[in-house]
Amino acid sequence: MRRSLVAANWKMNGSREFITELLGAMLKRLDVAATETDILVCPPAPYYDLCAGMLEGSAVKLGAQNAHEAQSGAFTGEIAANMLTDFDVSMVILGHSERRSDGETDEQVAHKCAAVLAQGMLPIVCVGETLQEREAGQAESVVKRQLGAVLDHCGIEALAEAVIAYEPVWAIGTGETATPEQAQQMHAFIRGTVAQQSGHSAAKMRILYGGSVNAGNAAALFAQEDIDGGLVGGASLKPDEFITICESVSK
Ligand code: 13P
Repeated sequence: MRRSLVAANWKMNGSREFITELLGAMLKRLDVAATETDILVCPPAPYYDLCAGMLEGSAVKLGAQNAHEAQSGAFTGEIAANMLTDFDVSMVILGHSERRSDGETDEQVAHKCAAVLAQGMLPIVCVGETLQEREAGQAESVVKRQLGAVLDHCGIEALAEAVIAYEPVWAIGTGETATPEQAQQMHAFIRGTVAQQSGHSAAKMRILYGGSVNAGNAAALFAQEDIDGGLVGGASLKPDEFITICESVSK
């Protein structure tokens, strides 16, 4: 049985004051929900320390939005995976479409994934097609290519511990959600692709849905057989809405 996971991706939003209020307003009820579901908050990097302090003694976990693949060196502005462990970061979002559209490649995502795993953290690897790719009938081949890069570089066994987030680009921040059936179809495809190499990894691997998840659509999405939770953007910046989403997990 896979334990569900709901992750808040706050992206590049907030300030010390905003995040103190946001997390402060949610923490008690999230802690209750975290007995049933893994819950993760991923703040912008300058606030890792603030959030790590606020999460001390809580079951809610701290996540990061990115990591660099090298351990150290001349990479101005980057943050190495090993640095994240100093803040008790337990999971790292990788290959978000907002980064891929800025030039991050499948190979870079695969190397970042290996770096995160080497530090004992769990990667949340984002995959997903654009509207143009979906309309051209390429949704599955795009997702397969993105997944394949990670599989080839990190190995099939690593995927048992990894989390995949299916985030169709056309559903991110648009208010347009994939239907539960559309999402389930792609999640089953992802699990099936992994199952061709390892039934064990396919059964253990958690697959999250992301793209305009909100309090109104979360339960129907999470009820699908291969949807193990969500990666939530905009709605995770609203305390009541995010709590409702976390409480919508049915398994
Ligand atoms: P929205 O929930 O705002 O559509 O963002 C989804 C996302 O990109 C999460 O990583």
